[in-house]
Amino acid sequence: MKLSVPKEASEGERRVALVPEVAKKLVADGVDVVLEPGAGVSSHLPDALYEEAGASVSEGQGLSGDVVAKVAPPSPEEIGRMQQGTVLIGFLAPLTAPDTAKSLAEAGVTAFAMEAIPRISRAQSMDALSSQATVAGYRAGLIAAQELGRFFPMLTTAAGTIRPAKVLVLGAGVAGLQAIATSRRLGAVVSAFDVRSAVEEQIASLGAKFVKLDIGLEDAEDAGGYARQLTDDEQQRQREALADVIGGMDGVISTAAVPGRRAPLLIIEDAVRQMKPGSVIVDLAAETGGNCELTEAGQTVVRHDVKIVGPTNLASSMPDHASQLYAKNVQALLALMVDEEGALKLDFDDDVIAGACITHDGLIVHLGARKAAGLQDKEA
Ligand code: NAI
Repeated sequence: MKLSVPKEASEGERRVALVPEVAKKLVADGVDVVLEPGAGVSSHLPDALYEEAGASVSEGQGLSGDVVAKVAPPSPEEIGRMQQGTVLIGFLAPLTAPDTAKSLAEAGVTAFAMEAIPRISRAQSMDALSSQATVAGYRAGLIAAQELGRFFPMLTTAAGTIRPAKVLVLGAGVAGLQAIATSRRLGAVVSAFDVRSAVEEQIASLGAKFVKLDIGLEDAEDAGGYARQLTDDEQQRQREALADVIGGMDGVISTAAVPGRRAPLLIIEDAVRQMKPGSVIVDLAAETGGNCELTEAGQTVVRHDVKIVGPTNLASSMPDHASQLYAKNVQALLALMVDEEGALKLDFDDDVIAGACITHDGLIVHLGARKAAGLQDKEA
């Protein structure tokens, strides 16, 4: 089996789908690994390291393999260069980018979306949503500390005592929990809120306080473990209750998300107005509409003397470790696709293979992707 890895083409994408350590293991397993020149350079991985690992580096070969491993969704131009029957692995935004799924189906590509890998114990090693959210949450904590004109930790100095910063984390999924841990390590007093009550214990175990809002909201976890979308009325009550809490914070890190939907709006302008001048909001949901109504995706803006940072693709800002973790996720998924002789073998009876597959045999096969593409029946 030939595995190829292109140099990521989308703007600002610095990660790579394969690192030399993983390439070496795949080569030892009999996989023919080929990379486009410079594929790992933005993650500080020169071509020579891949060659030492037994991979080959060759111009124009990044999309030529039986399997292509990528990070960001492929562009129409990249899809046009893939052969019929190619297996593609990568982030494909199946619930929000129907045109990508349609083009992949038309091109006859069998595509597996990292976002669609079932969140089951057996697939934890393949969970790229979690690995990249870990990076993003960590970075969000650092950005909040960096952008605040105040200390995070408490300091007792000859020049007086500094009170620790108060940080609120909204949404305590993988990214939120990592933002809590990072802010705590830096010495802030952290509290956090989520609509899933199951996270209360996890928040407490990180030394943060769970914020309870008295808004009559039952646990909003759905059967899949994700948050359900709140009703308009519930959202309204949540925003009003949160405004009071937010007003007392030096920093807010917001990470709330509902898969496939616009991010819930949690921080209204009035809440920003209530914050002390010089406070900071880091809105990790900027890319999907923002948790704060004043966020501008990809920008840092100052409103009511509060700095609002709206980073996009934050995982890519720490490419070395983001790529390392992602490559391990890819390796674990590949292990399900390759038989003992190193040949490609897709077992669609396997829950992980079936669940992650978006397009196959010219059809969009993933239920959520089919809905996003406006398809109700079996035709793509
Ligand atoms: P996510 O990125 O979809 O959402 C982030 C957080 O926002 C979630 O905790 C969600 O409850 C919260 N949220 C949504 N609407 C909100 C609102 N209106 N107000 C406040 N918070 C709101 O979540 P992520 O990090 O992808 O995790 C989702 C679920 O998957 C969790 O239950 C997590 O425990 C589970 N999971 C399971 C894994 C496994 O078993 N292999 C691995 C990783 C996560």
